[in-house]
Amino acid sequence: MYKTIHCQRDFKTLVDFGQFNRDSYPPETLIIADAILGLDFPHLALDAPESLKSWHGVGLITDYLIQHQAHRSTQLIAIGGGALLDLVGFIASIYMRGLNWHAVPTTLLAMVDASVGGKTAINHNNIKNLFGSFYPPSSILIDTSHLANQNLSGGKAEVIKMLWTSSDDLTLPPDLDDLVKLAITLKLKIIDHDWTEATGNRATLNAGHTFGHAFERLDPSLSHGQAIAYGLLAEHDLAEFLTHKNHNRQILEKNLAQQGLQINYAYLLTDLDALIDLMLKDKKATKTTLRSTVARSPGDSYRLTYTPDDVRRFALSQSL
Ligand SMILES: NC(=O)c1ccc[n+]([C@@H]2O[C@H](COP(=O)([O-])OP(=O)(O)OC[C@H]3O[C@@H](n4cnc5c(N)ncnc54)[C@H](O)[C@@H]3O)[C@@H](O)[C@H]2O)c1
Repeated sequence: MYKTIHCQRDFKTLVDFGQFNRDSYPPETLIIADAILGLDFPHLALDAPESLKSWHGVGLITDYLIQHQAHRSTQLIAIGGGALLDLVGFIASIYMRGLNWHAVPTTLLAMVDASVGGKTAINHNNIKNLFGSFYPPSSILIDTSHLANQNLSGGKAEVIKMLWTSSDDLTLPPDLDDLVKLAITLKLKIIDHDWTEATGNRATLNAGHTFGHAFERLDPSLSHGQAIAYGLLAEHDLAEFLTHKNHNRQILEKNLAQQGLQINYAYLLTDLDALIDLMLKDKKATKTTLRSTVARSPGDSYRLTYTPDDVRRFALSQSL
C-alpha cells in the first residue's frame, strides 16, 4: 500500500508497509541503524538511542558521513526506534544544508508517531528536543513483524493520547497494521493545517508532554511512552484541580492501564524544584507560564495555561 503524504513546503513522504530491502535504494545510500537489530549489510550500528540523541550522536554520524564522502545527493536511511529517527532526521536536515532521508521505524512508538510528521530533534543540557527541525523523510517503511517480541505499551500510550484529545472513540484495533494506519491517519489529520505548530492545532499532539518530558529526565529508566502516559494523567489531574471540573479520569486511566501502562506517577512529584525547573525549559513554556492540552472527555480537548505555583499547589495536594 503506497500512500503519499503531502506536506507543506513541497515535502512529500511515501508511507509503505512491507519488508526492508537494501537493494531497493541506490547503492551509495548510507544506513544508520540500531545495533540491536544486528543487520547483515554495511551500515553504522549505534547503541543506546536516547543518549545518542545529542551533539555527541551528531558527531558520530557526521564522522561516518564524511568518512564515506557523503555529498548532497547521498541519501540516508535510519532504521530503529524514535530516538534514532529523530537524530538521523536532524542530521539529514543540516548536513550540507539537507540530504534526503528514509525512515524505517522498528518500534511501535516510532511507527505510530515519531516517523510521521517531520519533527527531528536532539536533546541538550538535560532539555528534551532542544534542537531540531521540521524535515520529513522521503519515505517511511513499516514492517510490524519487528514488533513480535517487543513491549508495545509505550507506543500505545501515544495512540491513546491522540485518540483522547482528538476522537470520541478510544478503541485500539487489535491488528498492528490497522493500529499503525489509524494512528498515522489521525496524526496527519491533526497536523494537516498546522505543519509547523504555528496555529495551535498540532499542539494537541503535545498532550502529556509538558509533565512527560520532565518525568523522562527525572527518571531516565522510564520509556518515552510510559513517561507520556504519566504526563497525560498528571496534566489531567492538574486540570481537574485548577478548574474544579470533572474530566472523566476513570476513562483515561482505564484505557492506559488496559494497555499495560503504569498509572501511579506520584513518586515523580517529590522533587518539586527539579520538576518545575525541567517544565520551564519546555518549548511551550514562557518564563512564567506553562501550557498543556487536556481533555474533559474523549475528543473534547482544550489548552490549559498555568503557572509554576499552580504545579506546586497541585503537587502538594496530591501528597496530602
Ligand atoms: N519526531 C516526533 O514526532 C516524535 C514523536 C514521538 C516520539 N519521539 C521521540 O521518539 C523517542 C522514543 O522512541 P521509542 O519509544 O522508539 O524509543 P527508542 O528509540 O529509545 O527505542 C526504545 C528501545 O527499543 C530498542 N529497539 C529498537 N528497535 C527494536 C526492535 N526491533 N526490537 C527490539 N528492540 C528495539 C532500542 O534499542 C531502545 O533500547 C523519544 O526520543 C521521543 O522524543 C519523536
